[in-house]
Amino acid sequence: MTRDTDSETDVQDEEMRTDGGETDTAGADNVQLDPWGSSTVSDYRKLFEEFGIEEFDELLDEVPNPHYLMRRGVIFGHRDYRPVAEAMRDGDDFAVLSGFMPTGDPHIGHKLVFDEIIWHQQQGGDAYGLIADLEAHSARGLTWDEIDEHARDYLLSLVALGFDVDDGTLYRQSQNRELQDLAFELGGKANFSEFQAIYGFDGETNVSHMQSVVTQMADILYPQVEKPKPTVIPVGPDQDPHVRFARDLATRMRFFKVTEAYASFELDTAERLVVADAYDQLCELVDDDHDVRCVDAAVLLESGTDAVDFEDRPRYDDTFGAAADATPTARAIVKLKNAGMEPLRPRTRFLDRNATEGAFDALVEAVEGEKRVFDEHVDAFDLSRAEADELAREIELDNDGYGFIPPSSIYHRFMTGLTGGKMSSSVPASHISLLDDPEDGYDKVKSATTGGRSTAEEQRELGGEADKCPVYELYAYLLSGDDDEFAKKVYDECVGGERLCGGCKEQAAELMQEFLEDHQEKREEAEELLENLDFSLESDRRGVAPNGE
Ligand code: TRP
Ligand code: SF4
Repeated sequence: MTRDTDSETDVQDEEMRTDGGETDTAGADNVQLDPWGSSTVSDYRKLFEEFGIEEFDELLDEVPNPHYLMRRGVIFGHRDYRPVAEAMRDGDDFAVLSGFMPTGDPHIGHKLVFDEIIWHQQQGGDAYGLIADLEAHSARGLTWDEIDEHARDYLLSLVALGFDVDDGTLYRQSQNRELQDLAFELGGKANFSEFQAIYGFDGETNVSHMQSVVTQMADILYPQVEKPKPTVIPVGPDQDPHVRFARDLATRMRFFKVTEAYASFELDTAERLVVADAYDQLCELVDDDHDVRCVDAAVLLESGTDAVDFEDRPRYDDTFGAAADATPTARAIVKLKNAGMEPLRPRTRFLDRNATEGAFDALVEAVEGEKRVFDEHVDAFDLSRAEADELAREIELDNDGYGFIPPSSIYHRFMTGLTGGKMSSSVPASHISLLDDPEDGYDKVKSATTGGRSTAEEQRELGGEADKCPVYELYAYLLSGDDDEFAKKVYDECVGGERLCGGCKEQAAELMQEFLEDHQEKREEAEELLENLDFSLESDRRGVAPNGE
């Protein structure tokens, strides 16, 4: 199997747990990204530092009409969202997809994701919403009857909130044959050791659970089956391991890997910078760039330009090796010495990763200008990197490959529970279900914890702590809708001591009640739209809960 050294699934320094969250954690600010554990994130900064998630704020300006969840920092992070923002700006194709495990009622936390899908659809994206029923059955042990009931509820809420069914795609994992076929292909590029390292799977993990992982990988790439396009996956940060793995698999499925090289050997990015610089200096010293040899660059890097003698080159008869901790320059020197008299010349390289013989031949044929063909790669001397990338994808698509673009993601903050801790589906008072009786919703908000002070007097003096207040979160994440001014007014009045919790909660409770009434009315209207789905909301599956979870 071909593995890339630049793989994103670098599992060494990550904290991953097996299911259930039973393993104790080392410290309070230890970050874990566990798709099936109980995810809380105490420190979002760590997600940037340890996992390489990027800050959303940094590209907010590049997003046309950003959604309020983006403007208010609820969507706090992303992986490679730029190509999606760019496609949006340029009116090019792009897609959005997310999935829902039908394990309970959809609640206001899920609404964030529903809204993200719908917004991207409104910006012109191909939109996909899926029910992760295979995952619910295999990883959570739900029966098919339970799954059917919840699946319907998720879809109704998604449609009620504005998902355009005529223009978008809804599916259930279990009933999508094309998806299963893709999952099977992707499974051919993954192995058990990776499942262990990424998800903490072990000898006790049931096999269907593993199958649900490759199914999710297929979900994430599904929008690109017809043709490659930038795709965003809006999720909570607990799903990031899935996103990284899917990005990896997308790359492993490619026919060719395009790199930039200077001779027969491969260079990593840091080495390439060193060699590029040496090459440029050498070109200044010769009349004909073709006269530059690898050994010249080795001499230059070791002893400077003055030491290079094109008439009398040293001969390196030994084979050199670099120490594991050698600097990029030292590593480059070793490679250059080993290549000796080989000409040093910049080129773009197509490495054969998965290409069929036909595709390889077609590529050779299609490369314009000077080229050199080897068993496992083709070097092109007159193609830019961008041209090479484009050509590689074109040949792949012409030869029945997928040509996947690594999928992007955006991450939203987890909502705080109304009772203070985590918002959890198993603690009804901690969350508001989209199916809650509007009056219950009103009551739950009224009895929520706040960031208020112990007395009204103190509150007037010091102001409330809106940043720690679950009620303020309701305003920011949901109740203010697109109205930034209203959200800001609540915030300013709170921290300024003008707003007291009693009245503030009353207002929030009323808005919540109105929202639920309205949403539930729209759910009824959505019933009709669900009649015309091309899959069944009643599965004819039989089965029992799997073992080991
Ligand atoms: N694993 C997700 C969850 O736990 C559900 C899911 C399945 C999903 N396939 C997906 C999410 C694809 C995003 C994209 O809720
Ligand atoms: Fe929270 Fe409102 Fe009280 Fe401020 S006034 S702490 S926002 S409930």
